[in-house]
Amino acid sequence: MTPPPYDAVLIGAGNRGAEVYGQWALAHPHLLRVTAVAEPIAARREAVARQHRIPQARQFETWEDLLRQPKLADVAIITTQDQMHTGPTLAALEKGYDILLEKPMASRLDEAVALVRAAEQAGRILQIAHVLRYTDFFQAVYEIVQSGRLGQLITVSHRENVSSWHMAHSYVRGNWRRSDQASPMILAKSCHDMDVLYWILGRRVRRLSSFGGLRHFCAENAPPGAPSHCIDGCPFEETCPFYAPALYLDLNPIHYGLAQARSPVHRVAGRLARLSPDLLAALARVVPPLRQLSEYEGWPRSVITDRPGDLVALIAALKYGPYGRCVYKCDNDVVDHQVVAMEFEDGISATFTMHGHSHEEGRTLRIDGSQATLLGKFSFNQTYLEVRDHRDWTVERMDFPNEVETGGHGGGDDGLMRAFIASLADRSQPPLTSARASLESHLMAFAAEKARVEGGVVDMDEFRAQAEQLGAGVVPSG
Ligand SMILES: NC(=O)c1ccc[n+]([C@@H]2O[C@H](COP(=O)([O-])OP(=O)(O)OC[C@H]3O[C@@H](n4cnc5c(N)ncnc54)[C@H](O)[C@@H]3O)[C@@H](O)[C@H]2O)c1
Repeated sequence: MTPPPYDAVLIGAGNRGAEVYGQWALAHPHLLRVTAVAEPIAARREAVARQHRIPQARQFETWEDLLRQPKLADVAIITTQDQMHTGPTLAALEKGYDILLEKPMASRLDEAVALVRAAEQAGRILQIAHVLRYTDFFQAVYEIVQSGRLGQLITVSHRENVSSWHMAHSYVRGNWRRSDQASPMILAKSCHDMDVLYWILGRRVRRLSSFGGLRHFCAENAPPGAPSHCIDGCPFEETCPFYAPALYLDLNPIHYGLAQARSPVHRVAGRLARLSPDLLAALARVVPPLRQLSEYEGWPRSVITDRPGDLVALIAALKYGPYGRCVYKCDNDVVDHQVVAMEFEDGISATFTMHGHSHEEGRTLRIDGSQATLLGKFSFNQTYLEVRDHRDWTVERMDFPNEVETGGHGGGDDGLMRAFIASLADRSQPPLTSARASLESHLMAFAAEKARVEGGVVDMDEFRAQAEQLGAGVVPSG
């Protein structure tokens, strides 16, 4: 393989494709260049083509059109929605691309197995975007656990606390609200967590069970008199935590998050945005960086309309689109809480809790060993680790920059891209996340969903064997 920069085709120019990996390529042209795009939404396709100077002949409406061409670049970045990963990935492997594929690798277990096999047979890199592995925080947890400093590992308690507004945006009103159209939430949201547990402990799960369901975001909790869209005069606008204009027009959670940030500049900007948006707008005229906040066009606004800087477009999206709906009147069915109990090899026990009712977004982690306890928090506003020794009660604390300072996923997006480029440059170094390793997290998530829905305990050796058989004769769903 030649040294970087590598050329990439971008398949799916939505939030992850255009706003994360596309922007990363623009910021690192010496490492990666996007030289072709497949995207059916014209505005998105044209925006990417403009930003990356992609000629007309290399702009395609669908992945099928792009992958019918002879191989156009070194790598394919596949960022279509969950149920449209298998088709383009198999086709791109056949064409000889190395691939960065968004998680979950597939929304069906047989397809996930088939992808791993196809990548192994083709001898290509298939890197799944398990971004948490590439954060300083989880790297530090990994190193502490692997160093043996905690002594014999006994038990783990890990939580993914999805903030209530993020839950409402993505899993009640948005793209991941239905298992049949996306994936079960334990797969969509928490295959990352399954991946880090498997990686950090260095052991596979032997048995697991799971409980949970959709408790809050359903019709019986709708307050009487609430309209189907918040903006149509909801009488509960002052009290409902899910009132859509407060999220998408006022950006309350984003401003609140910034106001809690570690860096004083972010804190002041966040407070100003909350207390006096007019003053912020006036200051932004003379302090250009403040414009990013006063004229905010990023996630989640960019998800609800392709014109996120246009107030009229935002209001229209809330009046007529899915993101303006009352959270109690949507067609969602994914869980809002789920607990997984696991027994790892060597008898280590672990629980994982995922839920969508948190005051803040983030993970909390506790690992108890015979010599020391590790406590960690990895959240939007605060990221730290403590190792508490059992013999002398010393406490070592490590603080990490938070997401406001590091960028996407606590620096994981950037770390993932650097690791991907490194594995292209030196194929003798296996990437930190092989497709085979990623499959394990997906097996855990699928098994947890089976246990939740059907009840009982899943024997993971049996489950793995069944999955391998299922993967043999896959006809991709998308
Ligand atoms: N790694 C992470 O932490 C992380 C975070 C968020 C989302 N994701 C995953 O990333 C993937 C993409 O999510 P997103 O939020 O960017 O979704 P998105 O809906 O914003 O983007 C998907 C894009 O694919 C396009 N598309 C549809 N049909 C196509 C076709 N035939 N050919 C080419 N493109 C097509 C859509 O028009 C859309 O623009 C999902 O699988 C999601 O679960 C991963």
